Amino acid sequence: MKRKLLITGASGFLGYHLLPLAVKEWEVHAIVHHNQMADKEVTCHHLNLSDYAALEQLFNQVQPDAVLHLAAISNANSCELRPWETWKVNVEASINLAKLSAKYGVHFGLASTDLVFDGKQGNYTEQNEAKPLNKYGRQKLEAEALCLRFNPKAIIFRLPLMVGAPWASEGNYLRGFLAQYEQGKDINLFTDEYRSVCGAASVAAGMLALLPVAIGIIHLAGPERLSRYELGMIISEVFGLDSQRLKKCRQADLLMAAPRPADVSLNSNLAFSYGYKPLLVREELLQLDLERDL
Ligand SMILES: NC(=O)c1ccc[n+]([C@@H]2O[C@H](COP(=O)([O-])OP(=O)(O)OC[C@H]3O[C@@H](n4cnc5c(N)ncnc54)[C@H](OP(=O)(O)O)[C@@H]3O)[C@@H](O)[C@H]2O)c1
Repeated sequence: MKRKLLITGASGFLGYHLLPLAVKEWEVHAIVHHNQMADKEVTCHHLNLSDYAALEQLFNQVQPDAVLHLAAISNANSCELRPWETWKVNVEASINLAKLSAKYGVHFGLASTDLVFDGKQGNYTEQNEAKPLNKYGRQKLEAEALCLRFNPKAIIFRLPLMVGAPWASEGNYLRGFLAQYEQGKDINLFTDEYRSVCGAASVAAGMLALLPVAIGIIHLAGPERLSRYELGMIISEVFGLDSQRLKKCRQADLLMAAPRPADVSLNSNLAFSYGYKPLLVREELLQLDLERDL
């Protein structure tokens, strides 16, 4: 009999890449919110993650062996403009799941972000001090601390900017990039903002491998430190786009609600020591069905 994995945010971008891997090893139960899931191999449960009593009832019913909490409102500008609504999902829901996983003695993983760092240093290890510049980063850092307080055996996965199947979700980076290109627009890309960009399938495989064995904070990023412009050049090469349409710009050129850190590249040596082996962005993109429509 397979062990049971309860996943939140399964209908999102990372969930899309994680589910096909998870069902090979686990009996998967997904908590869904607005979106439906059509996957026959996954059992869906509709509920509000802020409702502790309903969550506890679900824990009783499913009796999961592990919980992976991916659900979030991860648009930094939304967090800046709607702090209370986003706090309920990004922090309160995380606390509820940390408490319940501790109470039921099951593995618990939280998806966090490289945006907990201020970006002044780069190549951050798990030992470096986190000092977020925007509300999204502050909410995730608060969720990290409270999850570890309520469940000291929790694992906190700090994730980088991810790329993967553009059709996986409405708001993912690659989808937005390709849509802008299709509309005939130039694409402005920062030369002074760096992330350890990674393919979502690599990250998903790492999370599933580490969830039962690791605890505490762990960086799960890609092996490359790329500027947005460098990432754009890789995308345009893989998708056969006209790279002349990619225009270099700097963070200061664009006014946005949420302040953006300059270099939040992550050092993932700890994860590598556990056997985490992410592909290069180019390698992961080449595995996609490049002919498929958005
Ligand atoms: N994508 C990235 O590049 C990236 C980078 C660093 C960290 N992360 C983190 O990785 C995780 C997954 O990101 P993602 O890109 O997959 O996010 P996403 O595509 O935006 O999906 C978010 C998911 O959260 C669910 N959700 C939102 N509000 C909810 C609520 N109130 N109750 C229940 N579910 C709710 C959504 O469900 P419905 O669709 O049903 O509403 C959706 O499945 C997040 O924690 C994010 O912060 C992502």
